[in-house]
Amino acid sequence: MALVPMKLILDEANKGGYGVGAFNVNNMEQLQAICDAAAETSSPVIIQVSRNALQYADKGLLAAMVRYMAEEKYPHIPMSLHLDHGPDIETIKECVALGFTSVMIDGSLDYSTKDEKGSHPVRSFDDNVAITKEAVEIAHAAGVTVEGEIGTLGGIEDDTVAGGVHLTEPDEAEEFVKQTGIDALAIAIGTSHGAYKFPVGTEAKLALDIVDDVHSRCPDIGLVMHGSSSVPAHMVEEVNKYGGKVPNAVGIPTNMIQDAIGRGMRKVNIDTDGRLAITAAIRKVFVENPADFDGRKYLGPARDAVRTWIIEEMKAFGTAGHADDYKPVTLDDMKKLYAAG
Ligand code: G3H
Ligand code: 13P
Ligand code: ZN
Repeated sequence: MALVPMKLILDEANKGGYGVGAFNVNNMEQLQAICDAAAETSSPVIIQVSRNALQYADKGLLAAMVRYMAEEKYPHIPMSLHLDHGPDIETIKECVALGFTSVMIDGSLDYSTKDEKGSHPVRSFDDNVAITKEAVEIAHAAGVTVEGEIGTLGGIEDDTVAGGVHLTEPDEAEEFVKQTGIDALAIAIGTSHGAYKFPVGTEAKLALDIVDDVHSRCPDIGLVMHGSSSVPAHMVEEVNKYGGKVPNAVGIPTNMIQDAIGRGMRKVNIDTDGRLAITAAIRKVFVENPADFDGRKYLGPARDAVRTWIIEEMKAFGTAGHADDYKPVTLDDMKKLYAAG
């Protein structure tokens, strides 16, 4: 089937009470691994591309590869192509024109400027509403789903925030949804991007009550959890065993993600775990077979490792087996629905 609006995937997940992984892609091998895993487990899937990925890969090529996977290779699997952390309106317009079926406008930070520390400053609530509304107008006119963000994560956003991390205030979240008309909302509950989410030896802690609160206030909104990599110990050990240096890496325990899903979290953003899986597999080949210099000899195992790990994630989040629940909805259908209010 054609790529579906992400709203369809999140609405179905809301009905079924499960989570859907949103996996970042930068290249063909990652994309194949994600789609193969979705097909093998019969799971809907969200494929997401960051602005850095748009720069790294030819953006038209990435979009074309994703379309090929949805329309030709796995037409029975519902897939959505999503812009991750869209920094500005120009990028939103570009992705809508490229056929993305979902965009995130990350209005929590102002990507157009940097403060004296070299960090992007936090946007005020009103400024976040203003840019998010503009993104909604543009995207909904094309039937494209919009994800907004309220609150700030730790990790890469940590040092961008003068006063530290701001967890999402449920009152603000409710007001933000009302004022912007978004379809999905990223909330900050104590996760952070990257491989160092909690000090080693301490207990992982998330503010899961915020999920309950926002879900009960905004039951039709697809709640999004950024920074959801679980940083599996076996991957980190493998990376380090074969010459890597990723000491003391800690992620979100899978049972905490499952708890968040049980409370209403629907989109689970994961990038770091894929990077670890790829790096571990490639390092292993380099150490064990130093004479090999055919890229397929290490990119192939890297692709296999990503596929194996995503299959586990799809089962853990409850996504597996749900690909057939769908009545496909097109961007045109969504366009009409949005226009009808
Ligand atoms: O949230 C950030 C994602 O992990 C994307 O990372 O900007 O390095 O592609 P990237
Ligand atoms: P991780 O760094 O935990 O994989 O989070 C990725 C993410 O949130 C992408 O938007
Ligand atoms: Zn993120």
